[in-house]
Amino acid sequence: MSEIYRASTTAPVNIAVIKYWGKRDAKLNLPTNSSLSVTLSQNDLRTHTTASCSASYPAEDSLLLNGKPQDVSGARTQACFRELRALRKEVEAKDSNAPKLADLPLKIVSENNFPTAAGLASSAAGFAALVRAIANLYELPADPTELSRIARQGSGSACRSLFGGYVGWEQGSATDGSDSKAFEVAPASHWPNMRAVILVVSAAKKDVSSTSGMQTTVATSSLFASRASETVPRRMKEMQDAIKNKDFETFGKVTMMDSNSFHATCLDTYPPIFYLNDVSRAAIKMVEQINTAAGKIIAAYTFDAGPNAVIYYLEENEKQVAGVFKTLLADKDGWSGERGAAIEGNYEAA
Ligand code: PMV
Repeated sequence: MSEIYRASTTAPVNIAVIKYWGKRDAKLNLPTNSSLSVTLSQNDLRTHTTASCSASYPAEDSLLLNGKPQDVSGARTQACFRELRALRKEVEAKDSNAPKLADLPLKIVSENNFPTAAGLASSAAGFAALVRAIANLYELPADPTELSRIARQGSGSACRSLFGGYVGWEQGSATDGSDSKAFEVAPASHWPNMRAVILVVSAAKKDVSSTSGMQTTVATSSLFASRASETVPRRMKEMQDAIKNKDFETFGKVTMMDSNSFHATCLDTYPPIFYLNDVSRAAIKMVEQINTAAGKIIAAYTFDAGPNAVIYYLEENEKQVAGVFKTLLADKDGWSGERGAAIEGNYEAA
């Protein structure tokens, strides 16, 4: 019986406050604009992944997600496997005692503790965990910037899940993607009282995938060009300043305006893409009411490619923000609840 080599890791979900929407290179997942996100704590939404390899395994690489076999033949997954194997080959070339792992079949086993593909950035945590688990298995240097460049090829937003806290993704300009990678804006400890409540409006799979949605937006939306070239670059700077200054009012305002701008380009896409629904819009109104009552911005909503709301707030405003949503959803029945469920997120280092 041949030896089985194994390594495990977890990667958390990240929720963008400046959204990535648009690819300039669909093969390499190179974006048309930079983006910025907050990484959730490992205790909340995360993917746990074990990567193993062995000469005793069937010849084909395999991936099991929540117990179900997944297709690994897609270009994204293949790109991650190929890059990681190439790095392992370098290790093996330098050290003749290093076991020859790069040519062995891989078995990846992943578990999400949240609904897959419901606009909850499952692919971000998924690819970040896959890349780090294989990097650990291959004993590669665990530099998150370098791993982010590989994870980006699996799913763009995955590059940001390799860092904890407040994370940027520099769009870069190189055609080979070498400068399109994640960077730390600030560690979670810099602004540790950031919280989020997530309203799971629907745990169903989204009907327009982010990849096809982005392509159609880039091709048809007249709002898209100004968003990518003017609005986002300005907001990237405003957002980084807001985080550095721990200025929640600016953080919140820019977060909400950027979510609105992203969903406006979706509506402006032809045929239009509707990610928000009536419950999402009710959540937006509720946040507005909370802020009006407080006389300042203490809550900020944002929506990815789905109807679920993520609402950011500071811990000291827990009662006024999360309290309101939790009262509304007192009969919550978990992630699959029809009326939505609320969970709290702590933002900590990954
Ligand atoms: O990385 P993808 O292909 O799942 O795209 C993510 C796109 C958004 O979640 C809508 C925005 C973002 O920056 O995460």
